[in-house]
Amino acid sequence: METIHRAFVGDSRDLEAIDDASVDLVVTSPPYPMIEMWDDLFTELDPAVGDALEAGDGRAAFEAMHAQLELVWDELERVLVDGGIACLNVGDATRSVDGSFRVYANHARVLEAFESRGFDPLPDVLWRKPANSAAKFMGSGMIPPNAYVTLEHEYVLVFRKGGESREFEPGADRRYEAAYFWEERNRWFSDVWTEVRGELQDLGSDDLRDRSAAYPLEIPYRLICMYSAYGDTVLDPFWGTGTTTLAAMCAGRHSVGSELEAAFVERFTDSLDQVPGLSRSVGRARLERHREFVARRREEGKAFEYQATHYDTPVVTKMEREIRLREVESIDAVENGTGYEYRAEHAPLSLE
Ligand SMILES: C[S@@+](CC[C@H](N)C(=O)[O-])C[C@H]1O[C@@H](n2cnc3c(N)ncnc32)[C@H](O)[C@@H]1O
Repeated sequence: METIHRAFVGDSRDLEAIDDASVDLVVTSPPYPMIEMWDDLFTELDPAVGDALEAGDGRAAFEAMHAQLELVWDELERVLVDGGIACLNVGDATRSVDGSFRVYANHARVLEAFESRGFDPLPDVLWRKPANSAAKFMGSGMIPPNAYVTLEHEYVLVFRKGGESREFEPGADRRYEAAYFWEERNRWFSDVWTEVRGELQDLGSDDLRDRSAAYPLEIPYRLICMYSAYGDTVLDPFWGTGTTTLAAMCAGRHSVGSELEAAFVERFTDSLDQVPGLSRSVGRARLERHREFVARRREEGKAFEYQATHYDTPVVTKMEREIRLREVESIDAVENGTGYEYRAEHAPLSLE
């Protein structure tokens, strides 16, 4: 089986290279409005952002930044299929503008923007990042009332386009083979995610990933497994270092993305040789974790009613039986003037 991944160097406010209703799932993380590292980028997209910041008008800057994101949300609405899911990782910002400290609630503003485009909000996930130090508290230390709660969580907002869920042909193998294990379902569909960082390895870990505020591979990988089937196409309009595409490759889905900074796309292309090994270790880690779960459950004296068809392991539910993980065997890249097309050849995950 082959999957195709297209990475465009370009501006996602106009995704003209992507056809209407050609994307099944969106997984992305935009630049967060009012986080200082993105001020210059938003000002390049609209100079009114810089003017508002210079004038000390935080509200106007916040609105102007979201207005640029909204142009991308319009494009998502166009390219996503009816019933398709959009998952957006976004964090709020705390900031003092003109001497006044406050929180800028990006998650609420994005939710409003998607609702106004007719998307249905679905229950979201709170991604609780591991706490780092005691020196993190903001405001006036130990004396009430002017200390502020520290933001240590981000959101994964989840929306469905249109009122109806997607339909699949009855008994579609591509859906049943993309099943996840029962215990994965319990962890992934929990509304608070903790300790996500470090569970899966990423491609390289240098200052480029910091500069792009890359998310850990585990975030898009989970979301892709949760909300898409084999054969589906996943879009990331804020492609950054390509973590979503890497996750799609590991999960055996197609992907497409667009990124303003050509250097990120070049860097991804240079690291392609790591993808087969990484995809294998991601799949094997899932199976290994399932085996540990089976052992624990047996120790508790609980039995299993079903046997997986493609792996030598029992499973809890009937729906898991056809689960079949895939690994990337080989991958190559073709430059095409607007970016790259990567073609990945997949095989059923080998346990040898
Ligand atoms: C938060 S980062 C995404 C990081 C990504 N999830 C990863 O793991 O590397 C946002 C990215 O969006 C890109 N970007 C911002 N506005 C854009 C636009 N209008 N079109 C395309 N890319 C954009 C930025 O250059 C940045 O790399």
